Amino acid sequence: MHRILIDTDPGVDDALAILLAMKSPELQVEAITTVSGNVHVEQATQNLLTILSLLELTEYPIVAKGEAQPLVKPLVMAEHVHGEDGLGNISKLRNPDGSPRYPLANCEISTISGVDLILETVDRFPDELVVVALGPLTNISRAIQKDAECMQRLRSIVLMGGVFSEYGNVTTTAEFNVFVDPHAAHEVFNSGMPVHIAPLDVTHQVRLTSERLDAEIEGRSDKISCFLKESTQPCMEFYREHVGFYGLHIHDALPIGMLTHPGFFESVEAYVQVETEGNLTSGMTVADLRRDRHNSVPNASVCIKVDADAFLDHFFERVLS
Ligand code: BDR
Ligand code: CA
Repeated sequence: MHRILIDTDPGVDDALAILLAMKSPELQVEAITTVSGNVHVEQATQNLLTILSLLELTEYPIVAKGEAQPLVKPLVMAEHVHGEDGLGNISKLRNPDGSPRYPLANCEISTISGVDLILETVDRFPDELVVVALGPLTNISRAIQKDAECMQRLRSIVLMGGVFSEYGNVTTTAEFNVFVDPHAAHEVFNSGMPVHIAPLDVTHQVRLTSERLDAEIEGRSDKISCFLKESTQPCMEFYREHVGFYGLHIHDALPIGMLTHPGFFESVEAYVQVETEGNLTSGMTVADLRRDRHNSVPNASVCIKVDADAFLDHFFERVLS
């Protein structure tokens, strides 16, 4: 069993990752922190409560709101991909009686900050806690700045971010999470903590098509099936127009699978650097992933391959269970 803290900017694929994590018996989700990324942290925190309400839990993980702004750069968001509210605009949907179709969970938001909740949770589970980072790395980096010694007691950090052998998804050379806060990513990669990365190179190998989703939820009317359909719709339209297939990549679900089903994945050790300055290449992740080509000591393990069919089957089996 892994004890985890999820740091997230929900985000449609973040939502899918959180559902998968909460339905994975191999994981104990102790806490969830939010951060600005796909949407502003205020909205991201509301979205987290919407996602948690789908699960009808009797006990919630501890939830705290994190950083609103990246370390140095002005915030860039991705509402054009994830919908104005970050969850495919489902917050606008109403039941026939006028009540929200997707209400917020009755879960308290901690009075401490996301950064402090990260430090407190590492402190509660020293050498045991795994942080799963699904958004820009601002909270994690602020936690390192506040108490580096405490953060050294993290067991590891598994994150979705970066791109190495493909084009980026926000600029030609950068992936969104690293692009939004490259200074934070630089700090995390050089922190000395064990870092496992799921970059676009591997998340692009998994395609959740509209056709597959429809087949999986056919005849079902439960909350999670409706959420899967309605929250992903605008995102799928965006992909159809700009990416070239009718569906979406479920980027953030992959780090969850890397923890619970490492056998589906293949990784290489590498020395990963982040471009924090470049005019053309801000947020670019740079590493030579060819085996035996390291000229520096590796600082991360980079996932390069996934058994996409096995992972997608597993995803649906768990999320619709
Ligand atoms: C990452 O960026 C966000 O839009 C997604 O939620 C994911 O974390 C993919 O580049
Ligand atoms: Ca995300």
